[in-house]
Amino acid sequence: GEALNILLLAGDGIGPEIMAEAEKVLGALALPVTLDRALVGGAAYEATGHPLPPETLAKAKATDALLFGAVGDPRFDNVERHLRPEQAILGLRAELGLFANLRPAKLFAGLEDSSALRPEVASAIDLLIVRELNGDVYFGEKGTRTTPGGEREGFDVMSYSESEVRRIAHVAFQAAQGRAKRLCSVDKANVLETSQLWRDVVIEVAKDYPDVALTHMYVDNAAMQLVRNPGQFDVVVTGNLFGDILSDQASMCVGSIGLLASASLGEGRLGLYEPIHGSAPDIAGKGIANPLAMILSLAMLLRHSGGDEASAARIEAAVAKVLADGCRGADLGGTMGTAALGDAVVEALGQNDP
Ligand code: NAD
Ligand code: IPM
Ligand code: MN
Repeated sequence: GEALNILLLAGDGIGPEIMAEAEKVLGALALPVTLDRALVGGAAYEATGHPLPPETLAKAKATDALLFGAVGDPRFDNVERHLRPEQAILGLRAELGLFANLRPAKLFAGLEDSSALRPEVASAIDLLIVRELNGDVYFGEKGTRTTPGGEREGFDVMSYSESEVRRIAHVAFQAAQGRAKRLCSVDKANVLETSQLWRDVVIEVAKDYPDVALTHMYVDNAAMQLVRNPGQFDVVVTGNLFGDILSDQASMCVGSIGLLASASLGEGRLGLYEPIHGSAPDIAGKGIANPLAMILSLAMLLRHSGGDEASAARIEAAVAKVLADGCRGADLGGTMGTAALGDAVVEALGQNDP
């Protein structure tokens, strides 16, 4: 078939280090792909004065899939908000209409003792967080103003329209249909009007999916249940902010934030694929970042935008083998560096050659 066009956006901090390992894996698969690269984040800001330069956005709109490392650099934490590195990822999600963020978390065999939870609790984890990505308090009106009393006040407006909730609910119900058919919608409907509307719309959409068991949970309880008994969750659907927080929490339940991949999808084939973690400035440049979340993001890219389930499954099997064999980076209490872990995945791929 036609070559799949992939745009590589390495970004900042550990972004380029982990991207190199994903490229290694992609190279080893020898698939019909064409690769292009562009600047994002602090790297783009330094070079062009903008974290998401027009050239990058134009390339992003024209490609089939984006593989994204991470953005964020403490050197730019105090520049005007619209010029900060993080605006690159927020801008891509908004401009490309990538409203559905899939963040799977499953305990890999061999990592039972790496979880922050007891092994028997962690072993049951096989969940998917479906995080809404284009709305919520992230994209509402925001600013700082002076109160009548003369003090500074910051504000960020939280809102969801019913069409925004409906489309993410459909994605979540359909994901649940392909899994264990349980969907838990997480909100804060006891306090927030945004959440009450969210809950009402999810209940309406549920009528189209009578085979899926729908439950609702307040986000504070969900945070507790995620460490008490994470095995109860199949698919979790939630808003942008709650999903951001719960997915970082879920990562430690399966051992490390360096393991969780994500897919950000819209209406079409185009998707953006990235680890859920950030640029990790505290370990950048040391060659010790875990590249597995990045490599698993490549697998999601090949599955969702490439329609290549076989290659995605091969990568996932290779990562599972590497972990089962005891390969561990610093985040999992081991000594293997970024490149050594990437090499181990490539070697494991060779062993499961079809
Ligand atoms: P972070 O995820 O970058 O790091 C949190 C902690 O986890 C750090 O101790 C880090 O060393 C560790 N860690 C993260 N990824 C790791 C990996 N692959 N291997 C080993 N350890 C890993 O979050 P933070 O420190 O809150 O944010 C740092 C910067 O990243 C900020 O500028 C933030 O805005 C940005 N960020 C970007 C994205 C993104 O690009 N999508 C996501 C989250 C945070
Ligand atoms: C993530 C990150 C981003 C988010 C930041 C960097 C804007 O934390 O991808 O999880 O909050 O969505
Ligand atoms: Mn996050």
